[in-house]
Amino acid sequence: MKTIDELIQDGVEGRRVFVRADLNVPLDGTTITDDGRIRAVAPTIAKLAEAGAKVIVASHLGRPKGAPDPQFSLAPVAVRLGEILGRTVSFAADTVGDSAKATVAALANGEVTLLENLRFNAGETSKEDAERGTFADALAALADLYVGDGFGAVHRKHASVFDLPKRLPHAVGDLIATELGVLKKLTDDVQRPYVVVLGGAKVSDKLGVIDNLLKKADRILIGGGMAYTFLAAKGHEVGISLLQADQKDTCLEYLAEAEKRGVEFVLPLDVLVSADFPDLKTKAPASFDVVASDAIPADQEGLDIGPKTRELYTSKLADAGTVFWNGPMGVFEHPDYANGTKAVAQGLLDSPGFTVVGGGDSAAAVRILGFDENAFGHISTGGGASLEYLEGKTLPGIAALED
Ligand code: 3PG
Repeated sequence: MKTIDELIQDGVEGRRVFVRADLNVPLDGTTITDDGRIRAVAPTIAKLAEAGAKVIVASHLGRPKGAPDPQFSLAPVAVRLGEILGRTVSFAADTVGDSAKATVAALANGEVTLLENLRFNAGETSKEDAERGTFADALAALADLYVGDGFGAVHRKHASVFDLPKRLPHAVGDLIATELGVLKKLTDDVQRPYVVVLGGAKVSDKLGVIDNLLKKADRILIGGGMAYTFLAAKGHEVGISLLQADQKDTCLEYLAEAEKRGVEFVLPLDVLVSADFPDLKTKAPASFDVVASDAIPADQEGLDIGPKTRELYTSKLADAGTVFWNGPMGVFEHPDYANGTKAVAQGLLDSPGFTVVGGGDSAAAVRILGFDENAFGHISTGGGASLEYLEGKTLPGIAALED
């Protein structure tokens, strides 16, 4: 893979460089609640601008349905990117239309523009090669060179991630290079005990990675919504908790495989339960009980791991040589259900090992809950992307940069 420094050495002054970033940040209306992904890619953009390139930044935000949808506009991100860079960032109101063409044409050397959400065009995410290709052709016409630096999206076979680099001379950005270096450490150079903490809502999103990590990790700690499918698989009542009933057999297979391999597979001992999902807007105090994880009342749902589980998971992290954590332990957006996620974050900080926080949600949780992000070994900007890397899958956005 050509590095961005090599690209700059070849000469980028006056050239239009398309930077595919992942600026898919959490928004509350038009307020950015966590700007980690913007800050993570800013150095790449600054480097190109300082070398005199005309920098065209592009990203997706959320999952609009292939047409403009104001709630997913990148306009607030352009403002924040400008503040972080300390430069004016112009904003194109479309992706390949008149606004984008005019905005790019107006760029002077060293200037930066951000295009509107790539997913406002159906060609971006199309399963049809031809449809993606047509969109990639139109994007390619805007630029001379391509830099792939949207690590969070490299597992997507999308036009701007996969098809566009095939149409332009390309290089890998510094963010992706750093992320790959860290993930390589987790696969090739693991210090033991290797502890993996998995949370988040859906078991099915994590099955591939559990399969692979059972061959590599010493301990796997499960929390978040996915824990309830494991508890149900073991025959426990989970009330109205999140449940993917069709995954129960697979969960049992993993539990058996873990036992066979001597991998500690740890499920919550206790959970916080309530009949009501908390109000995340007002954050009004919730009413909840702490119950054993095999005694969840039929009319209640689990919303966080309980105090005994927090203690147990903290102890399992205390001597870790390596930790990979993906997915919150509960509904951390509400203060009454944030303690499990906080305990795991603190457990990582207190562990002597190399700690990696993988994922949009867990990375945002760490910052939103007030932890010092620099105290972790690495906070990845990619959730699905880092999981798919650890599953051993080929990532389309990386493969395209290798060609
Ligand atoms: C993410 O948030 O994981 C990335 O930005 C990818 O988003 P997606 O899952 O909507 O493709």
